[in-house]
Amino acid sequence: MSGGARHLYVHLPFCASRCGYCDFVTVVGRRGQHSAYVDGLLAELALQREALAPGLESVFLGGGTPTFTEPAQLERLLRALPVADEVTVEANPETVTPELARLLRDCGVTRVSLGAQSFGPRLLEVLDRGAGPDDVRRAVYALRDAKIDNISLDLIYGIPGQSTSDLETDLSEALALEPEHLSCYELEAKPGTRFTHAHGAELARQAERMETYFERVVARLTGAGYRWYETANFCRSAAHAGGRDLRSKHNLAYWRGRDYLGLGIGAVSTIEGRRWRTTPRLGLYLSALAAGGRPPREVEELPARVLRSERVLLGLRLDEPLALDGLEEAIDPAAVERLRRLGLVESGEAGAELALTEQGRFLGGGVTADLLA
Ligand SMILES: C[S@@+](CC[C@H](N)C(=O)[O-])C[C@H]1O[C@@H](n2cnc3c(N)ncnc32)[C@H](O)[C@@H]1O
Ligand code: SF4
Repeated sequence: MSGGARHLYVHLPFCASRCGYCDFVTVVGRRGQHSAYVDGLLAELALQREALAPGLESVFLGGGTPTFTEPAQLERLLRALPVADEVTVEANPETVTPELARLLRDCGVTRVSLGAQSFGPRLLEVLDRGAGPDDVRRAVYALRDAKIDNISLDLIYGIPGQSTSDLETDLSEALALEPEHLSCYELEAKPGTRFTHAHGAELARQAERMETYFERVVARLTGAGYRWYETANFCRSAAHAGGRDLRSKHNLAYWRGRDYLGLGIGAVSTIEGRRWRTTPRLGLYLSALAAGGRPPREVEELPARVLRSERVLLGLRLDEPLALDGLEEAIDPAAVERLRRLGLVESGEAGAELALTEQGRFLGGGVTADLLA
């Protein structure tokens, strides 16, 4: 797409400590380097400015723990970033004080995504989380007091030791806070990590229950008036939100195959058929930018065939039909017909659109992969 990317991701990698299950690019502590890192981000933004459109739809500050960044540095960054219709910041509950909530609001943040994960103290301990259930509630109240009117809660299910009734309790506690948006992720345990080693047997037991957990999550949240708009994402439906569309504009852009620019260590960008990932090494990143150069990156040219397959795989995660114009070569018509007879996909008039049925959405990626030519 020409005219520049309309979506900007900014990676803030610092965290107070490392959670056992986490596989993101993170750096523990390093308060002394937060200022240099923000300098680096702003220098990288200046170098990449031409890749961005004049008006942005979304900015997303992800982590790491963006709200663990020194408040003065977080403020300096937020004030220097381009304005956008939606500005999201990821936050860990224990970092959200009334002052921080006001700082976010005053700096133009429109949406906060809070990593609750669970409301069970025992389960939070298994995850090595620093926050307890009361920290999550306090954080939501502080954000509400600061007039942040778009709050998302992240939950994880399939935690070692989590029973069906623990999951129901997590969903009830989350719903009681009346968030505008919820992301519910199945716990992914990377092979070979300390976490997987420590909880191997229980993780294997949980794997068998995941499908029923997923069904419970969907039934419970849709029953409470939330729209299941993407495989793992829910927002209050327009009818329950005064007509507001509360889907994440930023994440919708990924699922719709839009171009985006990523800044910071480990950040990924996809622009005009080219994808690159900036070095995950903090020292290399800072020294390259301090010397006036671009930080090292891995670049991948994406052939049209790969882009089309990605569009199908990502687009079918949504609850809206995928327009097939230009994607015909990516889809196997015989598979569409077979899956349609099984009640897993629906194709619109003259086959111009494709969507998964509810049953197909529960099976998810398996069905979508089958559709590819
Ligand atoms: C970039 S992460 C971190 C955000 C924030 N630092 C926190 O911990 O709350 C965003 C979300 O990804 C999810 N996540 C991280 N690791 C995961 C894993 N191994 N399996 C499933 N979800 C995960 C969590 O719900 C988390 O809130
Ligand atoms: S706080 Fe969030 S980003 Fe940091 S280690 Fe834990 S899960 Fe990962």
